[in-house]
Amino acid sequence: MSTEPQVEGTLSVTDSRTGQTYEFPITDGTVRATDLRQIKTSDDDFGLMTYDPAFMNTASCRSAITYLDGDAGVLRYRGYPIEQLAAKSTFLEVAWLLIHGELPTAKELEGFEKQIVDRMVVQAEVGESIKAFARNAHPMGILEAGFGHLSTLYPEAKQVESGPERMEAIINTIAKMPTIGAMAFRHNQGKDIVAPDPSLDYSTNILKMFFGADYEVDPRLVRALDILLILHADHEQNCSTSAVRAVGSSQVDTYSAVNAGIAALYGPLHGGANEAVLVMLREIGSADNVSDFMDKVKSREALLMGFGHRVYKNYDPRATIIKGACDDVFEVTGVNPLLEVAVALEATALADDFFIQRKLYPNVDFYSGLIYEALGIPTEMFTVMFAIGRAPGWVAQWLEMIQDKDQKISRPRQIYIGSGERDYVEVSAR
Ligand code: CMC
Repeated sequence: MSTEPQVEGTLSVTDSRTGQTYEFPITDGTVRATDLRQIKTSDDDFGLMTYDPAFMNTASCRSAITYLDGDAGVLRYRGYPIEQLAAKSTFLEVAWLLIHGELPTAKELEGFEKQIVDRMVVQAEVGESIKAFARNAHPMGILEAGFGHLSTLYPEAKQVESGPERMEAIINTIAKMPTIGAMAFRHNQGKDIVAPDPSLDYSTNILKMFFGADYEVDPRLVRALDILLILHADHEQNCSTSAVRAVGSSQVDTYSAVNAGIAALYGPLHGGANEAVLVMLREIGSADNVSDFMDKVKSREALLMGFGHRVYKNYDPRATIIKGACDDVFEVTGVNPLLEVAVALEATALADDFFIQRKLYPNVDFYSGLIYEALGIPTEMFTVMFAIGRAPGWVAQWLEMIQDKDQKISRPRQIYIGSGERDYVEVSAR
């Protein structure tokens, strides 16, 4: 596959305002928005722009990382189907794949795993600053603060043009995301921080840092957690990844760019949806109440959280895999009673015209919360789990962006609709 844009044809456009015809190259099934600037009514006209407030039809980059076909329900990282990665790979192997573009050799993987677990430890001063937060502070807020803190502890990460500094920040981001998340969790619970143990693997460390050094780790739960993290690892230009790219394009350090992703993920329409799903399932309470809740959704009083996606107009392939993982987890933990509500909701929605017409299917968040809950992770921590999983995607996309010769500082245009020039009025005269 050529990485340079190939001209596939041209687009002819006639401007009815001037009668002039223009011809623009089509590359990658796309026209360059800046080409449209040639379309002017006069020399001092700025030129034609496109209006796309939610980036519904705008490619913001050329990327070789993740392929997503929303109509067919296909997701691949660097060409590898998500189903194969979830069945055969590990989270850290997938992280390497996303960052470097190829699966690691056994030696590369071993070295990478060691580098990551060795860096999971977080400076004591971050732990001290977390103590200043209220006991009930949302862990995503604490995670944002933690990454702000890391940015000050690694001033060398400002050298975004340096390959070694970039890799250092990338490894630190993946390594320290769960540790700061665990610190937030322990703080919320009024418990002491549990330090990571470099002799243990990454996912086992996460469970131990959450639940205590004495926590008996069942390998089936570690594997389920690893699968969940793989499924969340990247999803091309979603809201948080776009935020990381946009903020990173200012050449701020990696930790600050990643912080933009954490903030975006916090929102209920993005990563916060897994938390909202559990709140919704608890409110519904029993499968008998599903039909009443559906009436509310259809009369626009509620959203069916965990359903719908900007890109998937088919079953989200990650939701299928998670549904399968639920069985493995519940075999160890016992069935989460809310599963019955979720299954009834899904069946009702998939048979309902409202959802069929709008192509609304379960997304990754619909079942993930049930697993997290079964693992003993409280609802407020669900989005933190998503952030831990998404960290490799953020840094891989950040790295691709920072190395992209087409990338300049991200800076959209606007259509100004405010008042024309007017004179200031003294306060006494208003
Ligand atoms: N429940 C009920 N109606 C819905 C839902 C839903 N979950 N999602 C979309 N619709 C309706 C929406 O009201 C609209 O109807 P109409 O055309 O009659 O006005 C139509 O479906 C199209 O929806 P949209 O809001 O224009 O679609 P969007 O691409 O802007 O939004 C979404 C995508 C994910 C924000 C939205 O589907 C949603 O709010 N879902 C619930 C929240 C959720 O589960 N988010 C997690 C997304 S996946 C993980 C992630 O990427 O973070």
